[in-house]
Amino acid sequence: MADQISLLLVVFTAAVALLHLIYRWWNAQTGQRKTHTEKNQAVHLPPGSTGWPLIGETYSYYRSMSSNRPRQFIDDREKRYDSDIFVSHLFGSQAVVSADPQFNKYVLQNEGRLFQAQYPKALKALMGDCGLLSVHGNLQRKLHGIAVNLLSFERLKFDFMVEIQNLVHSTLDRWVDEKEIFLQNECHQMVLNLMAKQLLDLSPSKETNEICKLFVDYTNAMIAIPIKIPGSTYAKGLKEEHDVILKAKGGHKKLEWDDYKSMKFTQCVINETLRLGNFSLAMFRETKEDIKVKDILIPKGWVVCVFSSATHLDEKFHNEALTFNPWRWELDQDVSNNHLFSPFGGGARLCPGSHLARLELALFLHIFITRFRWEALDDEHPSYFPLPYLAKGFPMRLYNRE
Ligand code: HEM
Repeated sequence: MADQISLLLVVFTAAVALLHLIYRWWNAQTGQRKTHTEKNQAVHLPPGSTGWPLIGETYSYYRSMSSNRPRQFIDDREKRYDSDIFVSHLFGSQAVVSADPQFNKYVLQNEGRLFQAQYPKALKALMGDCGLLSVHGNLQRKLHGIAVNLLSFERLKFDFMVEIQNLVHSTLDRWVDEKEIFLQNECHQMVLNLMAKQLLDLSPSKETNEICKLFVDYTNAMIAIPIKIPGSTYAKGLKEEHDVILKAKGGHKKLEWDDYKSMKFTQCVINETLRLGNFSLAMFRETKEDIKVKDILIPKGWVVCVFSSATHLDEKFHNEALTFNPWRWELDQDVSNNHLFSPFGGGARLCPGSHLARLELALFLHIFITRFRWEALDDEHPSYFPLPYLAKGFPMRLYNRE
């Protein structure tokens, strides 16, 4: 018996040692590649490690993102390297990860010139080869322009405003009839139905349900919704704002553009939700030429991971960063030029759907708060891997308010 245990220990130790050797060999290889370039071009790559073969540092990243301290992965490396720009290996690709908001702004502003969008294979599969994020140059500019026109303020004001309200009313009425709904999936479905109606003129049907199911299964992503609405102070603030609008309109009448524009506190709640629970955690760019910034040089062809969500959760920039505090935005309503808060990216690929997303969230909140009350059916907690989502899908029951 003792022999067997010793044998097991030897085998196990050998396996660990072998793994360690492979690890060292792998890092030495990447190190050599760096040295080679260093000789020829005086390259000074940011500090860092590419971790284990194949998985790189994805496991450490996963551990941090699925914990209640999602910034841990970045914090650890910032301390270790004394730099918020470092080399890592995530989602199957070696990359320079940046949590430096100035550098991130520079990367996004130079899209098409010094950098171009390039997502790791695993994430690219989500977007499709012809997705806008996978095309470059003239085609990207053309398609981006079309998307901006399709989602222009004019269209939001006159088409989407009515359509969103109709869809939210009918969907929420259906939820009341059900004993239990999973809010996360239902919200995916609703947003997808809206896009199918607006862009493809498809009404909610088996086909749109099927598209949604595929989408949800595939991405497991969500637009996070603040989950502690009942009883919290900001819930009262929200309720007050929406009750005032309801009273001014004399009941449940269709909201107009000016009603939407008057929802100042709601926009603060939306900003805070996007800061803490944005599904877009990072953007990926490939360098088109050697990039020299400060004392670092990133060689041509490297991928830069613009970690905007790390800035959103950084104590240096947002006091008590993990606390949901919508009032922090009260004096900072115009966030379009705030490089410490960029949930919709920036530069030539700035999200063309940002205003639509805000409109959908605001109208949804208005109808949800003024017409219904709800009961959460289980404890819930968010997780950030691979993208933010609520672990149990937020099971809840919805009731008419009157
Ligand atoms: C909360 C909701 C949303 C968030 C947080 C978000 C975030 C983003 C971000 C960060 C980017 C830039 C990606 C990059 O630079 O690599 C982006 C691009 C894009 N978004 Fe959104 N988005 C949202 C909603 C929408 C909606 C509702 C639509 C359309 C209906 C949309 C359409 C697009 C498109 C087409 C691009 C690619 C633009 C280009 O590459 O030129 N987004 N989005």
